[in-house]
Amino acid sequence: MKILVTGGAGFIGSHVCDALLARGDIVICVDNFNDYYDPKTKEENIKHNFSNSNFRLFRIDILNQERLKEIFQQERPDKVIHLAARAGVRPSIKDPHLYYDVNVKGTLNLLELAKEFKIKNFIFASSSSVYGNREKGPFSETDCVDFPISPYAATKKAGEELCYTYHHLYGLNVFCLRFFTVYGPRGRPDMAPLKFTKLVDKGQEIEVYGDGTSRRDYTYVSDIVKGVLAALDRGFGYEIFNLGGSNPMEVNYLISLIEKELGKEAKKRYIDKQQGDVEITFADMEKSEKFLSYKPEVKIEEGVGELVEWYR
Ligand SMILES: NC(=O)c1ccc[n+]([C@@H]2O[C@H](COP(=O)([O-])OP(=O)(O)OC[C@H]3O[C@@H](n4cnc5c(N)ncnc54)[C@H](O)[C@@H]3O)[C@@H](O)[C@H]2O)c1
Repeated sequence: MKILVTGGAGFIGSHVCDALLARGDIVICVDNFNDYYDPKTKEENIKHNFSNSNFRLFRIDILNQERLKEIFQQERPDKVIHLAARAGVRPSIKDPHLYYDVNVKGTLNLLELAKEFKIKNFIFASSSSVYGNREKGPFSETDCVDFPISPYAATKKAGEELCYTYHHLYGLNVFCLRFFTVYGPRGRPDMAPLKFTKLVDKGQEIEVYGDGTSRRDYTYVSDIVKGVLAALDRGFGYEIFNLGGSNPMEVNYLISLIEKELGKEAKKRYIDKQQGDVEITFADMEKSEKFLSYKPEVKIEEGVGELVEWYR
């Protein structure tokens, strides 16, 4: 199969590309290497694939519909995994227009091409943030998601809705996958697991929002990749799936694991909760388990060990 992966040089995307190549698929990687975090990190994420003839890289912006169309014409992909996005909750409050453009218009660009080039299956990277601010979980795919509390979350909800529209109008097979706080090697430097690892290692202060009791359903990246590939292979119709660890942990516990792995004590400073941040994320995995045979395997204790080892 020939799979077009947008955002293929990013954290999750680079792992997805590796997994597709490992099983013999041809990967068309589309990424604009923007500077949300150091573009050199993205080069590092994928450079081991540059010599692989099954890996083709296009350094383009998904907002450039003409160039995107040329790639679809030239490569004729069978399926699309659409991961490119402006990620991050807090920066979306500062720059909502950029998030809207990339995450909504960019997604629309890809759906249009998926329609035109009769793509067999379209995977959309959505997010647990669509569930909004709740006191307890687990969060099920059938829950109402009408109250996103950040522009980022709202763009992901909008993306899911556009996906449904293209399924309804044109019969496009689309699976929307709601990822829950993904961590692991090549992790995003703006997210707590890698950010805290670096700061604790360097003996620098870490800022903890609130009192550190907010909980996240941390999901190890290899589990996410398995879920993405299962969705890619089984995709039929329109469905939404949670991909999470289904075992939420307090931020304070994450920090204690990092301390243990590094053998260093964290210098914590507790500051106000941040706008847009939710109290808890907690995935209900029943549907994913039933239809995708998805079962998160990597426990947080093991996953943080892997992350710290990679960081070293
Ligand atoms: N990491 C998580 O915990 C998490 C949770 C929920 C959802 N997601 C979603 O998963 C996807 C991947 O996230 P990630 O954590 O790997 O982030 P990432 O920032 O590492 O990867 C995104 C990639 O998309 C590329 N990109 C961004 N805008 C682009 C554009 N206009 N044109 C072309 N390429 C562009 C970036 O350069 C980057 O390489 C995103 O859609 C994100 O919203 C991630």
